[in-house]
Amino acid sequence: MIHILVLYYSRNGSTAQMARHVARGIEQEPSCQAVVRTVPAVSPVSDAVAPPVPEQGAPYATLDDLCACDGLALGSPTRFGNMAAPLKYFLDTTGPLWIQKTLNGKPAGVFTSTSAPSGGQESTLLTMMIPLLHHGMVLSGSALSFPSDSHIQNAVSGTLYGPSHWSQHESSAHLSADCQKICHEFGHRLARIALQLRGLDLS
Ligand SMILES: Cc1cc2nc3c(=O)[nH]c(=O)nc-3n(C[C@H](O)[C@H](O)[C@H](O)COP(=O)(O)O)c2cc1C
Repeated sequence: MIHILVLYYSRNGSTAQMARHVARGIEQEPSCQAVVRTVPAVSPVSDAVAPPVPEQGAPYATLDDLCACDGLALGSPTRFGNMAAPLKYFLDTTGPLWIQKTLNGKPAGVFTSTSAPSGGQESTLLTMMIPLLHHGMVLSGSALSFPSDSHIQNAVSGTLYGPSHWSQHESSAHLSADCQKICHEFGHRLARIALQLRGLDLS
């Protein structure tokens, strides 16, 4: 069985919904299982602590989840054209895995949610890729297919860099049918890549 970690942060639910559709796409591949995890919020107040288990939604990720996975789908809302601090904070704890080359050669892809149609989708996705490149991960975007799937290149539902959702309002978590499809296909593609890379030494 191949395990793909779907690791995301979401404050208003859009990225969480994308994660669920990515997970469904992963599990469309019979021998692949999605492991969905989130990260706690961070606070400028240094003594704020998160509850050990989230009140709802996916469990918090640990470094063991990253060690155990065969691939990674990383999702974040856009924050000023970049990933959200809670996700970056978690990634900043992965130094020991970098030293051990734990993620080296594993496939990965990224997805995001923004409130504006040109709100920095691609800059967010690109900057999310950078720590993964430092870990030696093999990056995958969305598949290039046209003319029927030209919505893939539509900034309000997806780019070739990875799925992106246009939430329009902070509180709107509804995903369009296009966006659901893009997340699904992205997850399925990542699962198939993980299957094909299994057993290959890419160091
Ligand atoms: C501090 C902050 C910065 C943000 N920066 C951007 C931005 O640069 N571009 C954009 O389109 N949306 C921006 N947003 C909006 C969120 O990215 C957007 O509402 C997203 O869909 C929320 O995802 P979630 O429902 O998973 O929390 C920002 C939100 C906050 C709180």
